[in-house]
Amino acid sequence: MSTPATSPSATPTPKPHEPATPVMAATSTAIVGLQWGDEGKGKIVNLLTDRHDAIVRYNGGANAGHSVVVKGERFALHLIPSGIMHADKPAIVGPGVVIDPEWLLKEVAGLRNRGVSCENLVISDHAHVVMPWHKLEDELREAFLSANSVEPIGTTRRGIGPCYADKAQRSTAIRVADLLRPKVLSQKLATIVPFKNAVLAAIARPGSTFVPYDHRTQLEQFAALGEQLRPFVTGASKLLLDMAHSGKSILFEGANATLLDVDHGTYPFVTSSTCSALGAPAGAGVPFTCVRSILGVMKAYSTRVGGGVMPTELINSDADRAIADGIRQRGREFGTTTGRPRRVGWLDLVAVRYSARLNGVHGLCLMLLDVLAGVDTLMVADRYEVDGSPTNTFVPDAHWLAGARPIYRSFPGFSADITAARTLGELPTQARTYMEFIEQTIGVPIRFVSVGPDRAQTIEC
Ligand code: GDP
Ligand code: IMO
Ligand code: MG
Repeated sequence: MSTPATSPSATPTPKPHEPATPVMAATSTAIVGLQWGDEGKGKIVNLLTDRHDAIVRYNGGANAGHSVVVKGERFALHLIPSGIMHADKPAIVGPGVVIDPEWLLKEVAGLRNRGVSCENLVISDHAHVVMPWHKLEDELREAFLSANSVEPIGTTRRGIGPCYADKAQRSTAIRVADLLRPKVLSQKLATIVPFKNAVLAAIARPGSTFVPYDHRTQLEQFAALGEQLRPFVTGASKLLLDMAHSGKSILFEGANATLLDVDHGTYPFVTSSTCSALGAPAGAGVPFTCVRSILGVMKAYSTRVGGGVMPTELINSDADRAIADGIRQRGREFGTTTGRPRRVGWLDLVAVRYSARLNGVHGLCLMLLDVLAGVDTLMVADRYEVDGSPTNTFVPDAHWLAGARPIYRSFPGFSADITAARTLGELPTQARTYMEFIEQTIGVPIRFVSVGPDRAQTIEC
């Protein structure tokens, strides 16, 4: 049978027997946080974008804050993938992400002011949109918990939970594609605005005046935002699938982290997406066979922002708090997104081992090792005591975790400044002993050691 003629602008006819199994490049990699976030994923993603054909963010929203330092210049990214500076690689915001359009456009403008063109930014038309009522509901829910003496989640108040909830509810959700179709957007808002007004008026704080949303104002505002987004919006799923099927290598950027994963984290003190590598294929829209290699990013100690138990938190004595303060200052442990001081603790290998097993990581990236310089004795929890018995099992449940007491091993610290080290041989013996214990306990090799925020401050093992 002859092939029908096509005009150059027409969509090419699909090949009838194209194999459904992609020929994936062996270098496709997922980067995932193994703790409670802020492990330094942004630095590793930026570093590894060099070795991939495209980069895709697959989950979360503007709750994430990824710092990237290139030649001494610091960039804070929230929605835009950390590989955006590589102008020749598509930097894709995948369908699993929830997008606050104003925030995204502010980020683009900020980057352009600093010489990053963002021409390579691609936004999935299927990503969901964070609307003003999502942010208000997020705030009201947290206030409701506090007012009722229940520990709040400690969210970033960026509307993440309510937006993902609406995605699951469907009838009250808006996707990026809807912002580009004013008629559809108007129809959707005609139902959504009165629904949200009724719900929010009912849950608004007593004494506060809730100003109802107006259909026309929202339509005008979001249709205008849609127009500004339009140049970046495409069917990212097809782009990614085509790349996957033509053997291109994709870098999957995880936001938030495994212990914040909605299914497998320390529930209910988690975020609302699948932040572990298990979410990478779904949030990007490619077969799971595309994720060939998984790198787990971990700090040399622990931090957490927001509520929930952190077994190894350094808060029980003045001495503990002084160690935590030192680490917080040296490691700049203040949230990239909210500026909140991060809670600091000893390295918890019970938790990290769980995360590494759940993700099936092939290698570890050990970050912020330099920050530990000057701590006399390094403590590492490799077991918990639960109900009077030792265990190395981690149960991702906040109530269970509240009854877990860490059992520590101690290691001599190191005092030397290691920020200029570029080979393992330049690290103090004490640092290498600490690293060996991490590798042995987790059972996974360390592939990268980070000794400073700049991409150059990295040792590849
Ligand atoms: P992410 O959310 O996982 O991308 O991590 P964040 O960017 O929120 O937080 C990590 C912080 O540590 C940022 O300020 C980074 O610039 C910084 N950082 C990353 N690696 C290192 C390192 O090895 N040493 C030091 N001192 N800082 C680092
Ligand atoms: P990156 O990508 C640290 C935490 C919040 C809160 C909980 C739920 O920078 O590692 P949310 O606003 O998502 O509903 O908040 O999750 N959280 C993070 N903590 N780093 C993050 O992202 C986080 N994303 C969410 O502090 O405790
Ligand atoms: Mg962060």
